[in-house]
Amino acid sequence: MRIDIITIFPDYFTPLELSLIGKARKSGILDIRLHDLRSWTHDRHHTVDDTPYGGGPGMVMKPQPWGEALDAVVGAAPDPVPRLILPTPSGVPFTQRHAARLAGEPWLVFACGRYEGIDSRVAVDAARRMPVEELSIGDYVLAGGESATLVMVETVSRLLPGVLGNTESAEQDSFAPGVMDDLVEGPVYTKPAEWRGQEVPPVLLSGHHGAVDRWRRDEALRRTARNRPELLRRMAPDRLDRRDREV
Ligand code: ADE
Repeated sequence: MRIDIITIFPDYFTPLELSLIGKARKSGILDIRLHDLRSWTHDRHHTVDDTPYGGGPGMVMKPQPWGEALDAVVGAAPDPVPRLILPTPSGVPFTQRHAARLAGEPWLVFACGRYEGIDSRVAVDAARRMPVEELSIGDYVLAGGESATLVMVETVSRLLPGVLGNTESAEQDSFAPGVMDDLVEGPVYTKPAEWRGQEVPPVLLSGHHGAVDRWRRDEALRRTARNRPELLRRMAPDRLDRRDREV
């Protein structure tokens, strides 16, 4: 997968050289390209923002550098056609489902806005050439789209074939489409079997896979009820079996 990130802070993305994503880049699974928006400014101060029409506080990112950046990065008639992601607190809430869908795309472009956002004509212009999605990573306001982009790139990247080993499979993750849809994962344990007076739940030492699976599901249901009751309320009734209802 190719990912282009356009930002005024390319240094923000050095974490993408580390760990699983760093390895995926070295092995060629991921081709991440960073672009400094200021390289498409033409004034001495490399200005990317201006005051908002209509008044009000803050600054808005100018359309000109963004238009030229997208022209240069994407081209006039791209093949394949990339998908442009605009991180914004006003966007659709980003979920594991988005991540799974985006992981099937050949090419993503992230446009990181700062200040009060990017002049709205940029998204309209870009949509003439490629699908555009406004996505939010949560109901809070960050200083810019960079950290939201890091979150989305990491979430999508770990779903690409070959990025996680078998030992780190994503199938049992919280929210994994299929079994863990609308459920968060329960607690996990490793050795030793007793630590500071606490025992690991005996079923996990039993070697009985059926019982372990049932216990994990019970614990996932309990933790979801405790931390995310709204997920259980919206769950389709046929997704709960008789045993689930007893938990
Ligand atoms: N930019 C600022 N806040 C954001 C958020 N919550 N999600 C995505 N992008 C953002």
